Amino acid sequence: MERLYHLTRTEQLTPGVIKNLFQLTERYERFLKVGAKKLTDLEGVRIHIVFFEESTRTYSTFYAASETLGASVFGLPEAGKFSAFAKEESLEHGIEFWSGAGIPYLRCADIIIIRHPEPDAAERAARVSKVPIINAGCGGEEGHHPTQVLLDLYTFKKFLGKLENFNIAFVGDLRFSRIVPPEVILLSQYPGIKFYFVAPEGFKLPENIKALLRNRGISFEESDNLKEVIPDCHIGYITRIQKNRLEKLGNKKEAKELLKIYQKTKGNFVLTPEVYQISERLQTIFCHPGPISAKEKEIQPEVEGFPRVRFLEHWSYGLPTKMALLSTVWQSQREKDNFEKILPTRE
Ligand code: NCD
Repeated sequence: MERLYHLTRTEQLTPGVIKNLFQLTERYERFLKVGAKKLTDLEGVRIHIVFFEESTRTYSTFYAASETLGASVFGLPEAGKFSAFAKEESLEHGIEFWSGAGIPYLRCADIIIIRHPEPDAAERAARVSKVPIINAGCGGEEGHHPTQVLLDLYTFKKFLGKLENFNIAFVGDLRFSRIVPPEVILLSQYPGIKFYFVAPEGFKLPENIKALLRNRGISFEESDNLKEVIPDCHIGYITRIQKNRLEKLGNKKEAKELLKIYQKTKGNFVLTPEVYQISERLQTIFCHPGPISAKEKEIQPEVEGFPRVRFLEHWSYGLPTKMALLSTVWQSQREKDNFEKILPTRE
């Protein structure tokens, strides 16, 4: 069985790892369905959730998943403000301290979940950590958000009953998203998936990702208008324009220019009643990783209650997928702890 210890990058989610995680997710989903609130799988385990960026779904589903498994949680939702990181402490020192790099049996955290604006933060943490590190979203462009990718794939499987032979449109900001580019690479390992990339100028899927798809002989199309491609898609994955990342771009002029282009063309990337209607052909199911911008309304309020607009269901799968992930990495940590106990002590 393929093992998972840290989860810092999406490529660690190989199809084999995903298969194991999904089996466990299904099991937890069944428990939750019959009303389980407190299991004992992670009893006595301490989980730290350390976030340097805002979050609604990811933070609270990790919290709820930990508690449901019987773990205790230390939550630091504004780590950059309300911890010693605000006093110029390095990420590495914090992680070393929490994970017991000083005296192993005096560690505070058994698993650390981290969200951070820098793309390599989780990997840096994993390099020094004595316990599993889970990346809950690090960086924007060139970033990774493997736990979202995991829940997306679980959702597609729930929607379609399979993870192969389907067409999917990724819509919106495919450049600054930390979800879409690595998710596309991962999905390209499953047979028969056709990709449609629908993004405004300046927000298109990065060239290196497209080159990789071409090398693998994977078929994809790019479009400037959702209406053109949606009749051919089984899934419509709508995303938000990452304004928070644009604001942090070094080149302010470029950021302003990009926003202008988006504002001018955004009608082509929005789920409207008309798009819904023409997506009847393949009964396209629409989802969105959240948050949906209440200002830009990339999913228009008029279609929210429509039966194939299923982002609320999509968000819900965050809970059982995270339970599966936590119990998997904890199993790996237990094996490591046991192994270290039987190692002869060094003179
Ligand atoms: C995403 C993120 O934080 O990258 N949200 C999430 O975790 N569900 C997407 C976004 O911010 O638009």
